[in-house]
Amino acid sequence: MHLLSLSDWTKEQIEEILALATQIKRDPSHYTHALAGCILLMIFEKPSLRTRISFEAAMLQLGGHGIFYDLGGSPLGAGKETLADTARTASRYVQGIMARMFKRDDMEELGRYATVPVINGLTDYEHPCQALGDVFTIQEKKGTLQGLRVAYIGDGNNNVTHSLLQVCSQLGMDMTVGCPHDPVFHPLKEIVKEAKAIGERHGAHISIVHDAWSAVANAEVVYTDTWMSYHIPAEEHERRFQLLEPFRVTQALMKQARATAIFMHCLPAQRGNEQTAEVIDGPQSVVFDQAENRLHTEKAILVKLLGS
Ligand code: CP
Ligand code: NVA
Repeated sequence: MHLLSLSDWTKEQIEEILALATQIKRDPSHYTHALAGCILLMIFEKPSLRTRISFEAAMLQLGGHGIFYDLGGSPLGAGKETLADTARTASRYVQGIMARMFKRDDMEELGRYATVPVINGLTDYEHPCQALGDVFTIQEKKGTLQGLRVAYIGDGNNNVTHSLLQVCSQLGMDMTVGCPHDPVFHPLKEIVKEAKAIGERHGAHISIVHDAWSAVANAEVVYTDTWMSYHIPAEEHERRFQLLEPFRVTQALMKQARATAIFMHCLPAQRGNEQTAEVIDGPQSVVFDQAENRLHTEKAILVKLLGS
């Protein structure tokens, strides 16, 4: 079984990860041999702090081992080998592959040819491990998920937004994306359509609005992400900054949400862009607990997919 996209996973499978992550976080010593002898290949085509370190730490703490593989120094990166052959060869050495890649198609190809579980560590399209860590954090902070209102503010055409739409709709959480009118910043239509359909079955209301103030009204969670994702070319930064400025999360915007609202960000963050320093470093921010929870939820993903 792979974790390529949360749209492939059922509500029950997602809830299983949340329950297992809760147990692992509560009693990590019980899992120190859970993946003894297992090796995870960690393929990176883009930069990473959290994903790289948390997966490697998770493997070590579960009694296994992680191998970091930078595609820049690989036959694949040099154009000497196909992705299919890379996947088939690596599957003979390791028990699982985690990959961070640009293209969704490449992630799917990896999943087609690997004969061991493949975990999506981010593409331009999705970031499923982040979204699982995020709902785990929301559950921990709020005690519940069903019926909770999440506001995502900023660049909606974004891997993290897409995976949050998928997971919130499955878990019956209301999610409003507040993004500029320019379609460049809208979540992809196919994701929104699917999230609305799934949300209807699970009692989640999914909406897209083009005004940050109405998006955050009554929200329990205010979430944003960088305006300059890893794949955005530097020459687009100035124009994006101009268009996204009305969607900066400020203290005044936070005041429109519930008084008990938490502020979330997957990180890396740019203070002065998508949020002010006052918000991300302020009392409502849970961003470092959120970052920590990547470790616990990834352990649960690894135990589920690689454990015997
Ligand atoms: N949130 C996240 O995935 O961070 P990295 O890019 O540092 O892995
Ligand atoms: N949207 C961001 C997420 C980083 C974890 C990016 O793709 O760069």
